Amino acid sequence: MCGIFGIVTSGEKDLGPVLIEAGWRLSYRGYDSVGCATLHADGTVDLRKDVGRIEDVARRLAFHEMRGTRGIVQLRWATFGAPSQANAQPHLDSDGDLVGAHNGNVVNNVELREAFIAQGMVVRSTNDGETCVHAVERYVDQGYSMLDAIRRAYRDLEGDYAFVIGRVGEERLYALKKGSGLVAGIADGEACVSSDLPSILPLTRRIVRVEDGEIVILEPGRIELRRAADGARIDRDPEVIAETVEEAQKGGFPHFMLKEIHEQPQRAGEMLHLYEASPHVAPLVERMRSARNLYLVGCGTSYHACLLGAVYIARLSGRPAIPVLGPQFVPQNLPAVGPGDVGVFVSQSGETKDVLLALEAARSRGLEPLALVNVIGSTLMRESRAYLPLACGYEVSVPATKTFMNQALAFLYLALRMGGHSTAALRQIPELIERTISATEGQIETLEGDLAGRDDLYCLGYGLTYPIALEGALKMKEVTYAHCEGMLSTEFKHGPLSAVTEGYPVIFVSGPEDVARIVSGVNEVTCRGGRAIAIGEEEPRLRANAHDLIVLPQAGPLLNPLLAVVPLQLLAYRMSVARGLDPDHPRNLSKTLTVD
Ligand code: AGP
Repeated sequence: MCGIFGIVTSGEKDLGPVLIEAGWRLSYRGYDSVGCATLHADGTVDLRKDVGRIEDVARRLAFHEMRGTRGIVQLRWATFGAPSQANAQPHLDSDGDLVGAHNGNVVNNVELREAFIAQGMVVRSTNDGETCVHAVERYVDQGYSMLDAIRRAYRDLEGDYAFVIGRVGEERLYALKKGSGLVAGIADGEACVSSDLPSILPLTRRIVRVEDGEIVILEPGRIELRRAADGARIDRDPEVIAETVEEAQKGGFPHFMLKEIHEQPQRAGEMLHLYEASPHVAPLVERMRSARNLYLVGCGTSYHACLLGAVYIARLSGRPAIPVLGPQFVPQNLPAVGPGDVGVFVSQSGETKDVLLALEAARSRGLEPLALVNVIGSTLMRESRAYLPLACGYEVSVPATKTFMNQALAFLYLALRMGGHSTAALRQIPELIERTISATEGQIETLEGDLAGRDDLYCLGYGLTYPIALEGALKMKEVTYAHCEGMLSTEFKHGPLSAVTEGYPVIFVSGPEDVARIVSGVNEVTCRGGRAIAIGEEEPRLRANAHDLIVLPQAGPLLNPLLAVVPLQLLAYRMSVARGLDPDHPRNLSKTLTVD
């Protein structure tokens, strides 16, 4: 997830301050590099970009001095390709006549780039935003108008993205949406387009929401929408927005945690799309498959993904994988580590010291470090031999939600590939997550009223849902401050069952294969007066034995854990809010833990 913003004005203006302000509002979407381009009435382009956050880069490169009739700013959240000056956006075409920037992922980037180089185009980076510019250049060079060239580029560029592009000598900007967010705004003598609303609202409240497959043509004071498929004009009246900038930043949700839970279908779909087309997946799968020992290492939520990953890998590829908490790796596993071993180090931030120390120690004994990481350019990405991005964009809320989903999904994807199975069934995942959110939100609301006052509860799972129970319990502790212990359901009777009294809440997460075992646990609780809350697919035994059943869509044992975590995230969120807490900023916690 990156951020793009483009503006067209009537006559040459000081655009620098406007672009800095818009970039600053977009900075939550990406902060590893930033760039601004302005197009002047005399046909010249001023392009300034570099690695770093907008505050630093804008000052160093004096963005505030930039003038022009049109301007573009881009904030990059790298997915593939380290953050670098060359990969920073916007990009020029071969002759410097076109300038553009994108947000999202062009999954056939490598093939297109090679084709453009073979055609003699000047390609300066490995970034897929540059590929968007050359994809338009190819048709402009053949004599097509900008609109027709963009329409043709739309057919060539695969993936989920949006881009904005301008051409010297024209008084317009153009933008295209295909899978990534895009909003246009109209003001007196100006028009703008952006990845999201907050960067537009300081300029205008008259906005037009752009749909997938649509091209926006921006001129001073007006916009025109065209269908990319056939060029047909689209009539859509602007709406007037009443939201504040802060409300808009949260996408209409009261907290980032809820926004990020709702983002999961989209982010999961984007990551799968990326993996399907990535040349980096097959070699990584091969290294994992042929490892002497395979370790999966992480902390907190990322460790829970490792636990689930180990179950997926063993079941689907028949080889064992050893999940380990970062700091436990040295005392427990290091003595046995040697050449031929592979470790998959998992981290949202890529900066967790507990994980980095394990990597360093393991590598010194010959282990090959691989990574699943969300922040590209992070220490973990740089220290690993190869990595796959989690492609979630910036996760603002301290509790990890969308990054857990993509970590778990990445492991399922890799496990299927390691076992030589088809990954086609995963394509239904975005829709299934979407259905889970809408099906369980109401059920959770009812439950939250009863549970919000409880300071003590358990969350149990078995097999594939055991890591989900741990993750649900962690989310609950983190944002509600209640004590919630996650545990293997069959262990409950070995001690904790003694805590159960009248009305004591115990949540059971049931996979479709494990209903009989879960029902035994449920009965051990209910016969002592406890309240058993089951999460699982509709099932007569769960329905008959538990007090409550949060019903998940039918998805089968492998996909079920990915859905089961959603109501637990929602329950933790709602309980936190009901207790008057701020789920985005739990006390005592930090998003990135760079200390021992
Ligand atoms: C999860 O909600 C927490 N914020 C925490 O457990 C987190 O997963 C852990 O600190 C590891 O962080 P990382 O993924 O950035 O390495």
